Amino acid sequence: MSVTVRVPAKVNVQLAVGAARPDGFHELANVFLAVGLYDEVTAAPAGELRVTCAGPDAEQVPLDRTNLAARAALALAERHGVEPAVHLHIAKDIPVAGGMAGGSADGAAALVACDALWGTGASRDELLDICAELGSDVPFSLVGGAALGTGRGEMLTPLEVGGTFHWVFALARRGLSTPAVFREFDRLAEGRDVPEPVASPDVLAALAKGDCDALALAVSNDLQPAALSLFPELSDTLAAGRAAGALAALVSGSGPTTAFLASDAGSAAEVAAVLRASGTCRAVRTAEGPVAGATVV
Ligand code: C5P
Repeated sequence: MSVTVRVPAKVNVQLAVGAARPDGFHELANVFLAVGLYDEVTAAPAGELRVTCAGPDAEQVPLDRTNLAARAALALAERHGVEPAVHLHIAKDIPVAGGMAGGSADGAAALVACDALWGTGASRDELLDICAELGSDVPFSLVGGAALGTGRGEMLTPLEVGGTFHWVFALARRGLSTPAVFREFDRLAEGRDVPEPVASPDVLAALAKGDCDALALAVSNDLQPAALSLFPELSDTLAAGRAAGALAALVSGSGPTTAFLASDAGSAAEVAAVLRASGTCRAVRTAEGPVAGATVV
């Protein structure tokens, strides 16, 4: 018997970053949107905990106990006094180290898969608590849809979305480390007062209406200057997407994936074709959001 869970990537339509806290994390107002690029995690009984991964970026995925899927299984097993004797196979389609919560997605998916496989019957709140222990973005991978994340991003308020948004994602030729991008944010902010992060009413209203033109005017990412400082070539990708007719162009989360908002599926396909031909990125994908969070298939 095995259980397979499908889990989406995310894009941040707003990422407002406050000052570093004493624990090193940053206070955020993080508006997440789940988009239809998916990993699938399959949990099957095994002699001992084992992680395997397949997909275009598979060789970049750690298979030891630093993998969030392995950590999720261990955390659930410990809480419920179960042996973590499980083989977790990750079919990976979400870019690795891309700012699209690929690792977080696998953590949330493994948690849901192990809970079903072992019959632990953990409540939604318990699963969300474990997710928050695993990482700031993991709770959102569990719930999907659209949500405002506050605190370090783990405290979620679900958001209404009045339509479907069409996105193009340009995958970069190398990854960016999230801690390094936050460190660069701190370096760039030195000597300045960093304001409290607040959710933009314009972003929330555009999501609620399903209005892509309004969302395009309202999107923002406070980590973008830091990501561009560490990876200046991303400016060329952003410029290529804008020139191709994208309504908005921004770095996704801590990057280096860049995200482009399009008015409809046809326009997204056109922007994608131009980006592919531009030579400024490794690969290009299109996806719609919002979509559901981690789901047993
Ligand atoms: O929570 P997570 O493990 O995904 O965070 C990865 C790293 O990103 C943290 O170690 C920290 O350096 C940075 N981070 C942060 N503030 C947040 C979330 C993440 O500084 N709110």
